Amino acid sequence: MLSYRHSFHAGNHADVIKHLVEVAILMYLMKKDKPFCYHDTHAGAGLYSLDSAQALKTSEYQTGIGKLFHHQASSSALQTYLGLVRELNPDGQLQFYPGSPGIARLLLRDGDSIQATELHPADFPLLQTQFQGRRHCRIEKMDAYAGLRAMLPPLHKRGLVLIDPPYELKTEYQDLVKGLQQAVQRFPQGTFAIWYPVIERASIEAVIDAIVTTGIRNQLRIELCPLPDSSGFGMTGSGMLVINPPYTLANDMREALSEIAPLLGAQVQWTVQQLVEE
Ligand SMILES: C[S@@+](CC[C@H](N)C(=O)[O-])C[C@H]1O[C@@H](n2cnc3c(N)ncnc32)[C@H](O)[C@@H]1O
Repeated sequence: MLSYRHSFHAGNHADVIKHLVEVAILMYLMKKDKPFCYHDTHAGAGLYSLDSAQALKTSEYQTGIGKLFHHQASSSALQTYLGLVRELNPDGQLQFYPGSPGIARLLLRDGDSIQATELHPADFPLLQTQFQGRRHCRIEKMDAYAGLRAMLPPLHKRGLVLIDPPYELKTEYQDLVKGLQQAVQRFPQGTFAIWYPVIERASIEAVIDAIVTTGIRNQLRIELCPLPDSSGFGMTGSGMLVINPPYTLANDMREALSEIAPLLGAQVQWTVQQLVEE
């Protein structure tokens, strides 16, 4: 059952934190003159129109990119992230928003490789179209965890794996913990970034505890909550758990989040916290 469509949510506050972390990690990987691999397990469509019927239904982008699009950023990850969104909207009107594989497509060098899996019958062809003609890329209509087993470790033994499930089913949390353990075993040098929603605080803490107690070293938690916990508005915030983060990531994200927090709302809380040491 695949009822989730990211087009309803594109550009919301959860995309902002997810894509800012993605950009900061990719920028770090690009500092070296050596190719690397970006692997996206739940890739979505790759590009979204914010004036589509789906996006307009809830206009969620107004809780996220809508508040930042015209901001002149000073922190480096934020500058790059906003620059990519502006590249898609050269007339200065916010109409298009990149998905996570779209960000990698815009940012990566020709020699870097991109791997992505997506199962939705409508989103997969949209995704595939954007990568037509790109060298060093593999875009598959395949289950996320089967894709990790099939494609990890990548040829170049450095890179980022972004794991962004829709969490429609309770079993997805168990699949995540098991799939992550197997993937880290296959690609121990890799950086893994897992997006999680904050809907009910106790439940998400239990999932994070389960990942912390796997024994996987070096885990950094980055979270952005526009609303207080359990305020009755569904998803009040979200975060990224990053395994093997670049040593620069915690500071990069402190800078970016302290800059965007006041722009996103008066009640915004954020955290950057090392959960497991190296
Ligand atoms: C949250 S969206 C992804 C958004 C995307 N990562 C981004 O940031 O632009 C989750 C996606 O996972 C896809 N999906 C759901 N279950 C999947 C599975 N088992 N394997 C691969 N993709 C799956 C959904 O169709 C949906 O497009």
